[in-house]
Amino acid sequence: MSEANASRSAMGSLRPSMRCAVVRQVIVGLAFLACFIAFRPSPSFGQQSQGTQNSPGSQSANADLEEGKRQFEQNCSTCHGVDAGGEVGPDLHGVAAKLGDAAVHDIIRRGIPGTAMPGSSTMSDRQVADVVAYLESLDTMASPATIAGDPTKGQALYQSSACPTCHMIDGRGGDIGPELTRIGAMRGAPGLKARLLDPGAELPKVGEGVFGGRWTQYLVFRAVEKDGHVIEGMRVGEDSFSIVLKDSSGRFHGLWKPDLRSLEKEPGKSFMPSLRDTLSEAQLEDLVAYLMTLKGTQ
Ligand code: HEC
Ligand code: HEC
Repeated sequence: MSEANASRSAMGSLRPSMRCAVVRQVIVGLAFLACFIAFRPSPSFGQQSQGTQNSPGSQSANADLEEGKRQFEQNCSTCHGVDAGGEVGPDLHGVAAKLGDAAVHDIIRRGIPGTAMPGSSTMSDRQVADVVAYLESLDTMASPATIAGDPTKGQALYQSSACPTCHMIDGRGGDIGPELTRIGAMRGAPGLKARLLDPGAELPKVGEGVFGGRWTQYLVFRAVEKDGHVIEGMRVGEDSFSIVLKDSSGRFHGLWKPDLRSLEKEPGKSFMPSLRDTLSEAQLEDLVAYLMTLKGTQ
């Protein structure tokens, strides 16, 4: 009791001086930042100068393109493709010109919140600047992922191939699979094509970690009831004694675990049918061309 009072009064007497120290630090910090912004050598935030040439406004002048390429291959190519033509992430040809170097620098550092684009805290500012310069150097090159298909034919195929029963675009369609409203901004053409041929490729597989947590929601569970009746569905809810599965037609099944003979995950299995045998190569290109036009509202 008295101890508590003592410590409370000690805190009370400490607090103003602590506050003072904090205020002082904030002021010093702000002054520091102001100097930094006023005198930073180039538009690439925090870039270390190398040697003496630091022509303002041209970060590529002293950036190391080879190092940028190496860093890109190490940190970005798994998602954006070795040639930056897009896979799980979008094509990055022309992105530096479109967004500006500073914005790209910022995206690499902080990622894009709410999307699968992660930020990098392990690369140095120098390395990030080199990657930006490398991306800038790709602006002048044609993208390797040029899309040959006809998006109008692709849209007709989309409507006639049962896609809308499972996918939503601009609020219309089903919700068995992921929404496709922004799919053309989220993914590269090569990645989309691969996904149409091999659905489930991005779903968690046996012995693998979870892919960004995102795809676990499409993981298929297989429940066998005591009478041998099989129910397959994506898990929408679970506790110790029950599980709710949503089947491929969108129907919900509430299951009581003690009543089941078995309950297993089916890693790598997807409700999405492969288009490998149903569409020709040309039709597939048309469909991808259509999906790539879906960029959401900008
Ligand atoms: C885990 C996969 C992944 C990694 C690793 C990754 N990205 Fe991305 N990136 C994405 C995805 C997905 C998007 C699209 C996000 C969205 O808009 O939904 C994206 C978007 C971007 C964009 C914005 C594109 C635009 O047109 O607006 C840039 C720039 C970018 N990434 C650069 C990089 C760079 C450079 C690296 C390496 C340092 C990197 N990314 C690493 C997945 C990744
Ligand atoms: C029976 C439901 C169903 C049908 C029909 C279906 N899909 Fe899917 N689709 C899914 C599911 C579930 C996923 C997520 C798991 C996966 O990737 O396999 C998915 C994933 C996708 C993806 C990847 C999305 C991403 O974020 O990368 C694309 C693209 C796609 N579908 C397009 C199509 C197109 C085009 C059609 C029509 C030809 C179609 N789907 C038909 C259920 C379906």
